[in-house]
Amino acid sequence: MPLLDRITTHALDYVCMPTFWLALIPAVLTTVYIVPYLLDPLGLRTFPGPIFAKFTSGWLPWVVSQNRWSVAVDSLHRKYGIFVRLSPNYVSIAHPVALPAVYGHSSGALKAPFYDALSGFKTRNMFNTLSRTEHARKRRIESHMFSPQSVRALEGIARMHHNDLVSQWDKLYSYVKRAESGAAREGSLGECAWKVKDGRVWLDCMPWFNYWSFDTIGDLAFGAPFGMILAAKDTARVAKSVKASLATFGTPSQTGKFAFETEELPVIKIVGQRAELVAMFGWLPEYVWPIILMMPGFRGSRRAIPQVSGLAVAAVAKRMNNPDARADMLNKLLDARDENGEPMSPEELSSEAFLLIVAGSDTVSNTSCATTYYLARDQRVQAKLQAELDDALKAVDSVVAPHDAIKHLPYLDAVVNEGLRLHSAVGAGLPRVVPEGGMTVLGHTFKEGTWVSVPIYHLHRDENIWGENASVFYPERWIEASGDQKKAMLDAFVPFSIGPRACIGRNLALMQLHIVLATLFRRFNVVLESDDPLPVQDSFGRRPKQCMVGIKPRNL
Ligand code: HEM
Repeated sequence: MPLLDRITTHALDYVCMPTFWLALIPAVLTTVYIVPYLLDPLGLRTFPGPIFAKFTSGWLPWVVSQNRWSVAVDSLHRKYGIFVRLSPNYVSIAHPVALPAVYGHSSGALKAPFYDALSGFKTRNMFNTLSRTEHARKRRIESHMFSPQSVRALEGIARMHHNDLVSQWDKLYSYVKRAESGAAREGSLGECAWKVKDGRVWLDCMPWFNYWSFDTIGDLAFGAPFGMILAAKDTARVAKSVKASLATFGTPSQTGKFAFETEELPVIKIVGQRAELVAMFGWLPEYVWPIILMMPGFRGSRRAIPQVSGLAVAAVAKRMNNPDARADMLNKLLDARDENGEPMSPEELSSEAFLLIVAGSDTVSNTSCATTYYLARDQRVQAKLQAELDDALKAVDSVVAPHDAIKHLPYLDAVVNEGLRLHSAVGAGLPRVVPEGGMTVLGHTFKEGTWVSVPIYHLHRDENIWGENASVFYPERWIEASGDQKKAMLDAFVPFSIGPRACIGRNLALMQLHIVLATLFRRFNVVLESDDPLPVQDSFGRRPKQCMVGIKPRNL
């Protein structure tokens, strides 16, 4: 028998022996997990953390899949202290001094490839691009859209949707009066269930905040709301195929209809499913993603990623079919030119539009809902806020609070800050890669290539900064604190992050939060159905799952 055949035959004999496999499995595990741990190329072995996280990058996606990302990291810091190793190459640093080092303008750290999973298109948007140059170009274009003057100019449009929200809650309350005359005591308005009890109408306020924020961002960004508040329904038109629809861009539609196939979908639900998936995918190599999508529990979400992209494409296409539309955010993107005078491609436009929808809707609705929960839970705080609003708005007869009249109210400001702090709509650490030359934080030097982040949720609830009552909704802390204590609070308060990648929509978000809370709480008294903790889907964004409240107009 020739030598090669003999070797092959022997090899096959070995492969067929059970002992071969018994030896192979530990050998692979040793090579893949133990050897890198022992070699410790990044010098992270001394950092404490869950044992599983020291050997594999599977621990974080597992925690994310359990919907307890920020809370789990918070518990680890309480157990181990400032530094916690969350994966073989990744350390979380829970201290405010780490914020400028990791995120500040002179940090030099770039977003980690975690953000690769957060792309909906091949062309990156401002949020998920890792390149400093590309980011600076996009940020220059888009910063005009969010300047204080631009945001002020958007107030008129935003007010229409606050007004729609109040009209729908008024309509829901009208069922109380009707029930007193013998009509039904429960039912649904669109998709939203209601019931009448104890002189109030009871509803889940979370979907209402979602409809309101999606309609507002749809209108501000693309010149038309999705129509969710008035329909009381989670619904929008989505392109069936992103590729096919992008190919039709630039072909003017004579009929004003879409030049590609669309379908009506519950996009808020889909945006939530996508957020959960990508927050897991970010920690895993791309070849694992299809395997996860085949697993029970995730199969139902497999279409969510392309569907959210389809939502952005449809919104952009609809707006482009209407070149005479009033000035909106998309105008600024359409007018943008690169250094060669070229406009954004259809794919880049859609990718940026996708970002506006995803970043600008959920964050605001989640924070509004959580702050409503805290205000409903503490009637003392609610009454104090209402007294301030009554005084400030006594000469105002519009239903929606004008921003100018409420933007500097100390107690409302304190309530908004306290809601942003306690809820932390983006609560996780935002991962960055240590640049060439390393990074030193609190005496520890991290080598180039290490991933680091600072956990926002933990900083916002750290007793060393906020005192014994750190987990209590206590707006007065913002008014009572002074000197060093106030400085320590402000240094640790980062709901919008800091530095070159900080939230560009901060001014818009703050205006929206001030107006919605002032408008609703001036008009309604709100109570909770149960004092249980707010249930939250704790992923990259922290999304309340439900918040049952009973409302009644205050002047009754
Ligand atoms: C309460 C509301 C909001 C919160 C708490 C919030 C929070 C954040 C945070 C923490 C980041 C940094 C993310 C990272 O580094 O990975 C961010 C980025 C961003 N946010 Fe917001 N956001 C809010 C509202 C908005 C709104 C209303 C918009 C726009 C319509 C917006 C647009 C963006 C964009 C475009 C980025 C990426 C900026 C960049 O990379 O340069 N956000 N936001």
